[in-house]
Amino acid sequence: MAFSSAASELGESPAPISKSEYRERQEKLYSKLSDNSVLILCSSPTTVRSNDVHHPYRTSSDLLYLTGWSEPDSVMLATKKNGTWQTMLFLQPRNTELEIWEGRRPGLEGALEGWAIDSSFSIDDLNGLLKKELECVNIVYHSVGLNSNVDQIVEDSINSKTRSRQQIGEGPTQRIDPSELIAEMRLIKSDAEIKLMRYSAEISSLAHIEAMKNGYSGIGEWQIQGLIEGCFRYLGASGWAYPSIVGGGENATILHYHANNMKCNDGDIVLIDAGSEYEGYAADITRSWPVNGKFSESQKKIYNLVLKSQLAAIEQCVVGNEYIETHKAASRVLAEGLVDLGIISCTAEEALENGELKKYFMHGTGHWIGLDVHDVGIYKPNGIPRKFEAGMVITIEPGLYFGGWRPDLNDLDPQWDGIGIRIEDDVLITENGPDVLSSRCPKSLDEIESLIGTS
Ligand code: GLY
Ligand code: MN
Ligand code: MN
Repeated sequence: MAFSSAASELGESPAPISKSEYRERQEKLYSKLSDNSVLILCSSPTTVRSNDVHHPYRTSSDLLYLTGWSEPDSVMLATKKNGTWQTMLFLQPRNTELEIWEGRRPGLEGALEGWAIDSSFSIDDLNGLLKKELECVNIVYHSVGLNSNVDQIVEDSINSKTRSRQQIGEGPTQRIDPSELIAEMRLIKSDAEIKLMRYSAEISSLAHIEAMKNGYSGIGEWQIQGLIEGCFRYLGASGWAYPSIVGGGENATILHYHANNMKCNDGDIVLIDAGSEYEGYAADITRSWPVNGKFSESQKKIYNLVLKSQLAAIEQCVVGNEYIETHKAASRVLAEGLVDLGIISCTAEEALENGELKKYFMHGTGHWIGLDVHDVGIYKPNGIPRKFEAGMVITIEPGLYFGGWRPDLNDLDPQWDGIGIRIEDDVLITENGPDVLSSRCPKSLDEIESLIGTS
């Protein structure tokens, strides 16, 4: 059966985040907020794809992080009074008629029973209750932009100059965006989160392996996409964490190519950047390989150079190192290699400074990853590059792109033309050094060559 060998390779699915962990997250956040305040977290809006069809729903990661609640049309409200917090959830109530069409809802009782909240209310009661809560707090923690109704109520409440406000001094006088505080928490992954991320990376690795096994000259980019995304779902992921990039030949030289509608021809490298989402957690993996199963000499040189730079960057993923060391290490290896290959005619030192390397390696070496593929967390708090701490997860994804179609590369030696190679893994920082969550996905040249077309 399709994907049955991938399924047999996949380990036990990890436990979802527990109610007690959600409680711990809430308490940790609440302990950082002022007394006499209210915190509001809104679900993402639903978006129309066309006519009466909607895009698949995915809620906001902050709400997911603090509650695990993933239904649309929901708002979490938490009030802190005299040092005590209450977490309230406003949600769509049960409605048999709608549930017959759209699916079952936990409803108010189900939410109270199954999620880490203190009380549940119909979303229809939000406006009245929110206005009432806002009347008796000083600070409102709220990020604008997801729910215009809530944004307006908050703004009106802050701007209100009623007599009682002036006499009694009640009602919020400031709005503070809580997202940075939540981002700091999300940056360090718990053990339970790491298990989910490793599992998402395993699903994605097995899907990449399926693609390699099924590769041949003439395969369509869309067919590889179908194999990968089909495998994600078959293995239990909710789907992709970001639209899959499958670029054959010169399409591999376009960083976020997503048309995926061309054939991969004999001699082409295909670059596949695809990762699943499991229980909300993203994986982000890129592999680049020749569809005919054999790297040409030129492709081999570029592949091994990118791999060497990726391994050098991964080595920098250690506690206490500035995250920027990963980019410095990858860039140095690439610059030196391109000088050795005669692609860059100045020195490596100069290429790192004068933009020559950027012609072929024009993106960063990685980004935080977690509930979002490009996860939250400021890279340079107060302008200083952040140091790695245990529990952070970052992607390491150097690449080299030789798009002869680019006017600025019109003097490119034809042997490099059309080669685009990126190698990307998800790396957990631990006290014992880097732990590559996506290590199951082969990346040595020999391993890859021995897999292509074997299915
Ligand atoms: N998949 C997008 C990225 O690698 O950042
Ligand atoms: Mn990435
Ligand atoms: Mn990627």
